[in-house]
Amino acid sequence: MSEDAELTPPTAPSIRPADRPERRGRGTLDTLNRPLRDLRISVTDRCNFRCTYCMPKEVFGRDFQFLARTEILTFEELTRLARIFVAHGVGKIRITGGEPLLRHDLEKLIAMLAGIDGLKDLTLTTNGSLLKSKARALKRAGLQRVTVSLDSLDDDVFRAMNDVDFPVGRVLEGIEAAAEAGLGPVKVNMVVKKGVNDQSVLDMARYFREGGQTVRFIEYMDVGSSNGWRLDDVVPAAAIVRMINAEMPLEPVDPDYRGEVANRYRYVDGSGEIGVIASVTQPFCGDCTRARLSADGKLFTCLFATRGHDFRAPLRAGKTDEEIAELLRSIWGAREDRYSELRSAATTDLPKVEMSYIGG
Ligand code: GTP
Ligand code: 5AD
Ligand code: SF4
Ligand code: SF4
Repeated sequence: MSEDAELTPPTAPSIRPADRPERRGRGTLDTLNRPLRDLRISVTDRCNFRCTYCMPKEVFGRDFQFLARTEILTFEELTRLARIFVAHGVGKIRITGGEPLLRHDLEKLIAMLAGIDGLKDLTLTTNGSLLKSKARALKRAGLQRVTVSLDSLDDDVFRAMNDVDFPVGRVLEGIEAAAEAGLGPVKVNMVVKKGVNDQSVLDMARYFREGGQTVRFIEYMDVGSSNGWRLDDVVPAAAIVRMINAEMPLEPVDPDYRGEVANRYRYVDGSGEIGVIASVTQPFCGDCTRARLSADGKLFTCLFATRGHDFRAPLRAGKTDEEIAELLRSIWGAREDRYSELRSAATTDLPKVEMSYIGG
């Protein structure tokens, strides 16, 4: 395929509010008629990497104040909250960080969450550095899949991007270990930054096509306030698709589920697929059903929110499940976020929370 127009992903048919099945199902709708379906839980704000676009060393240096142990929700508190969220329509939970595998005994939390009735999908996003030793225990605890972040196969480029000199080989071992443990198909997330790792796009596509994993190429976003984001640093998803298509022909695939963030493409020869996450050039707020919980128990209704809603105080003050559920309904019912659609000079200048704090 060579025509750009043919590479445009199919757009979801527009749904009138009254037709939305969610109106008849469980759960509260926000002000834009979006249900709550997806909860991303950050279990720690710490990370053993210092990716330049996420936790630059100048900001996250020796003196940076991470959350104290007592500030972080316990596994019991997290599980209680998760159960309330599932009762309100959440079907999918993704564990994130920082680097979630730095949290001690994480498999215990996985086992507790896996036991929640009504939860359909339990996944985790990791930088892969500790996956080799933890994959089997995570699988045994009930984790279904993992997504591994990897920004280049070129060792020099990767070491410079994670900024702690971590070698590519160890992440690749982690991905293999996860696949062997039954945590596949593993998805691999690559944030593409112009002039930094865009020359690695084709290598990544080739390598993981052979290995049977799906790479998702992510447009570099203006998340947080410390990475010095500039629009010029973004490689548009359309350019990434064109580049790969020129060597390995692609065709668009329908979304797996409503609100999927990645636009999917398959190799025409049947050898697998890729995804592109075009949150800058093709925002997907209209279908955003995601909420994020920080490690200290604040709920963020948008990745770009400037403030969160505290759930830790009510949890620790002995509020009942019903009182906490009411808080959730009122927050979700008032939600009007659509940052990526409104992205403008005025909004990019607001102080935003860091991705390492609320998770990707
Ligand atoms: P699957 O269940 O595997 O399909 O996961 P997913 O499609 O939800 O993808 P994942 O959680 O791996 O997210 C991939 C990347 O997409 C994140 O790291 C973010 O960079 C971006 N992303 C995810 N959710 C949002 C969102 O709500 N808004 C924006 N702007 N970007 C998002
Ligand atoms: N833009 C896009 N993706 C980002 N991630 C972290 N910071 C950014 C950013 N500024 C990605 C990571 C990882 C996931 C948790 O979020 O690479 O895949
Ligand atoms: Fe850590 Fe992931 Fe942020 Fe890199 S992108 S610093 S691995 S949390
Ligand atoms: Fe959802 Fe906010 Fe991302 Fe839009 S910018 S898709 S509302 S998290």
